[in-house]
Amino acid sequence: MANSKVSQDTGDLKLNRVSKHYGDFCAVDDLSLIVPDGSFFALLGPSGCGKTTTLRMIAGLEEPSAGTISIGDTDITTQKSYRRNVNTVFQNYALFPHLTILKISPSVYVGVELKMLKLRLKMR
Ligand SMILES: Nc1ncnc2c1ncn2[C@@H]1O[C@H](COP(=O)(O)OP(=O)(O)OP(=O)(O)O)[C@@H](O)[C@H]1O
Ligand SMILES: [Mg+2]
Repeated sequence: MANSKVSQDTGDLKLNRVSKHYGDFCAVDDLSLIVPDGSFFALLGPSGCGKTTTLRMIAGLEEPSAGTISIGDTDITTQKSYRRNVNTVFQNYALFPHLTILKISPSVYVGVELKMLKLRLKMR
């Protein structure tokens, strides 16, 4: 089942004339850039200039209105987000800030408790 796997594509990340429109509003306008493979790259700009929208398109959480995104030789513009060799760490990683872990998933809570108990027993 090769097509169920996350792509292992590597290489430069290329955005070629990427735009994103929300109705009449243009959030990203004809952006082209190359991020060399293995490099550390930062997007800087004033609030509202389209940084998050750009990252969301790279991650596959938004589809560009125009342009293409590729990694190495693979065009990932319309590739499902879970198939991309891309990870995202959100600014706010509290997905459900109004819930406790018990309310989200009691089974996760029990799992964490069990792990803690095992750790405590090991430490004795
Ligand atoms: N889903 C959406 N619908 C309509 N407009 C949007 C949507 N998402 C973003 N925008 C608009 O697109 C523009 C760019 O937003 P974006 O969040 O990408 O900016 P940003 O550079 O990340 O800003 P910040 O530095 O404040 O995080 C903003 O004007 C924002 O209001
Ligand atoms: Mg942002």
